[in-house]
Amino acid sequence: MDETLFSIIASLEDGRRLGTDEFEYLVSHRTHEGATQLARTAADIRNEIYGHDIFVRGLIEVSNYCKNDCYYCGIRKSHSHCDRYRLDDDQILTCCREGYSLGFRTFVLQGGEDPAFTDDRLCKLIDQIKTEYPDTAITLSLGERSRESYTRLKKAGADRYLLRHETADREHYAQLHPPAMSYDNRMRCLQDLRDLGFAVGAGMMVGAPFQTPRHLAEDLAFLQDFQPDMCGIGPFIPAAGTPFEHEPAGSVEETLYLLSILRILMPHVLLPATTALGTMDPQGREKGILCGANVIMPNLSPVGVRKKYALYDNKICTGEESAQCRVCLDIKMDHIGYQIVCDRGDVRRKPICPEQP
Ligand code: 5AD
Ligand code: FES
Repeated sequence: MDETLFSIIASLEDGRRLGTDEFEYLVSHRTHEGATQLARTAADIRNEIYGHDIFVRGLIEVSNYCKNDCYYCGIRKSHSHCDRYRLDDDQILTCCREGYSLGFRTFVLQGGEDPAFTDDRLCKLIDQIKTEYPDTAITLSLGERSRESYTRLKKAGADRYLLRHETADREHYAQLHPPAMSYDNRMRCLQDLRDLGFAVGAGMMVGAPFQTPRHLAEDLAFLQDFQPDMCGIGPFIPAAGTPFEHEPAGSVEETLYLLSILRILMPHVLLPATTALGTMDPQGREKGILCGANVIMPNLSPVGVRKKYALYDNKICTGEESAQCRVCLDIKMDHIGYQIVCDRGDVRRKPICPEQP
């Protein structure tokens, strides 16, 4: 038994702040025993706050046009074989209608950085969705925009914004992105979103090219400080036709280990078991839930475009209808003793069963 490891795990479980060196030790000395213990603690913490409730978010992939050129991403602008599409407002509203009838109360509008999605257009769309479905939350995942833009989107009624920080290490950031993109602007966006009152989601890929345990430790230290409301992590999966197409994929085990750490570090965080995790392992999402995740984001995009929104290869759920995914997930969650709930699924600040005085 590794005494240092177990003393770091004990600190984490006691809610003490960890330093980057401790996080690095935790990441680089992963053992089966340590992972099992962390998973158990993470599930206990999640159960205390969220019970066995799993929140679903209907993911609508609005466009795969992107002006950015991130080296890892299958819809980067230099990927000339990417078959581009953009949904119109009616198509997006149809997805919401279908989602609502399936019980979804959060819609995530995700897309590449597509200049066609102007503030005017998005504000009108957000307003339409909110008017038609006032009991839903709208999450945006549309990349880096100006503070003015975020301000308008918030005023129009958007509730949450997902923008993974991707890596908290400046040099690593530059290894994953072209010079036109900057770590500073990424961080500026996250801070603006927070200042403006969005529930904010950060996150990173696990096993991204050039990533070392030190980088993951820096990610954890950043997340410990920033305390995002949501945190999306999933294994890196190579995408054909990108500069990283021959790089190895990230590990499911390491992703699960990090999910457990994140739950303990941020007890209230909304933590998805991501599609990338489900792509790397047919039971990946269930395993994610058992390691502390509490959110699933099934695809609500029109079936005809699902294969085109290919951030990475072999993505799951690109063939089925939304209703099939919904039923499939109900069964999968029920099988492991959890249930999908049909509410907005906001961060819960209090335990569900406060102890009686
Ligand atoms: N493998 C796994 N995740 C990826 N993403 C982009 N490309 C890949 C890939 N090849 C993630 C990024 C991005 C999110 C929308 O998807 O972290 O922020
Ligand atoms: Fe899509 Fe199972 S969640 S088929």
